[in-house]
Amino acid sequence: MTVAPNFQFHNGVLHAEQCSLEDLAKEHGTPLYVYSRKALKDAWDSYEQAKQGRDVLVCYGMKANSNLAILRELANHGAGFDIVSGGELARVIAAGGDPRKVVFSGVGKQRWEIEAALDAQIKCFNVESKNELLHIAQIAADKKCVAPISLRVNPDVDAHTHPYISTGLKDNKFGIAIEDAPDVYALAAQHPQLNIVGVDCHIGSQITEISPYLDALDKLLNLIDTLAKQGIQLSHLDLGGGLGIRYTDETPATPTMLLTEVFKALDARGLAHLQLVLEPGRSMVGNAGVLLTRVEYLKPSEAKNFAIVDAAMNDLIRPTLYDAWHDVEAVSPRQSGTTALEYDIVGPICESGDWLARGRKLALEQNDLLAIMSAGAYGFTMASNYNTRPRAAEILVDGTTAHVVRPREDLHSLFASERLLP
Ligand code: LLP
Repeated sequence: MTVAPNFQFHNGVLHAEQCSLEDLAKEHGTPLYVYSRKALKDAWDSYEQAKQGRDVLVCYGMKANSNLAILRELANHGAGFDIVSGGELARVIAAGGDPRKVVFSGVGKQRWEIEAALDAQIKCFNVESKNELLHIAQIAADKKCVAPISLRVNPDVDAHTHPYISTGLKDNKFGIAIEDAPDVYALAAQHPQLNIVGVDCHIGSQITEISPYLDALDKLLNLIDTLAKQGIQLSHLDLGGGLGIRYTDETPATPTMLLTEVFKALDARGLAHLQLVLEPGRSMVGNAGVLLTRVEYLKPSEAKNFAIVDAAMNDLIRPTLYDAWHDVEAVSPRQSGTTALEYDIVGPICESGDWLARGRKLALEQNDLLAIMSAGAYGFTMASNYNTRPRAAEILVDGTTAHVVRPREDLHSLFASERLLP
């Protein structure tokens, strides 16, 4: 059993659905991202079931994986999108997503991005500061339109996650301090160019428990009461993304566990009429993807055994950036003849931080194929061309069929647009 239900062993070889990962690596080369369509559907369904027939809009946090084929799949299932840039809006439109189901988050929205979002008639701006609010109002006035807005408030709760991916604490750059929110709402309410539609928070990522959400929700519901007294009515409440996945032995809360408690809290406060918006990223795609990589060299040394592979920190930066754990599976585990040793799985990049996994017991020979598990979220989207390495190809498997949804980058394209001095 692996951590990802749609990536399992058949006849001693790891498969994505019914496709052998050995065959895919032979045909398409490595490093290679492989996604499962079924896993995507399963994750989507886990949110569908959690809705329990209520008005819930799932706006996929597309920064986790923004390949157009993934976006199209989710759009076809009915997803909206949480975007954080004009580039992501362009991807939603290119994938055939519905801009009216788009929420636009992020602390530094630029003029051109706000204009593009107004033109596309998105669902709302998740506004992160008073000055951003005024900027949006000014741009809406210039364009003679009205901007739908929701304030992203910072509820000051601890999501108990890695500090780099914790976003709901007072000293994070995100959102408007919850105690300042009533004044900023009052300002927005006076403005003819702004239409207040909701309230929003996003407290962090890879959250495995429900209690931080409920702490944040409680604060948001108090704020909604205060606003009602000011005569401000909202139509939606956005709880952000952040639900965790299993990377190794975590047992994260499910969408149903979360929403059951959220609905109870809404009902208890007489707020059942509010639409609930969610912005899940990782929990939609994280376990829908693996990164395949081949062992180039085994390098035993006095202190450590290194398996030097052809994927690197430019392909998957999570291990070195967040000290993140990804399971590593041999795609065709050796049954005999090779002793299992503890290996650090490292890439070819000239940095000591270029590692993908450390201290993993594996029976390896050179040229063996490895799968870095749970790499569907924040894998390819955080990849770079460092060391002039073309970014990996991406494959989306559907049963027995494998579709190339992004070919491997062509080496020459990496510098084709650069110019020499005259
Ligand atoms: N909404 C907002 C406003 C966000 O900032 C994020 C993620 C999401 C939704 C989606 O959160 P998710 O459901 O994926 O946890 N690169 C890091 C994760 C950074 C998350 C940033 N914000 C990683 O690889 O762990």
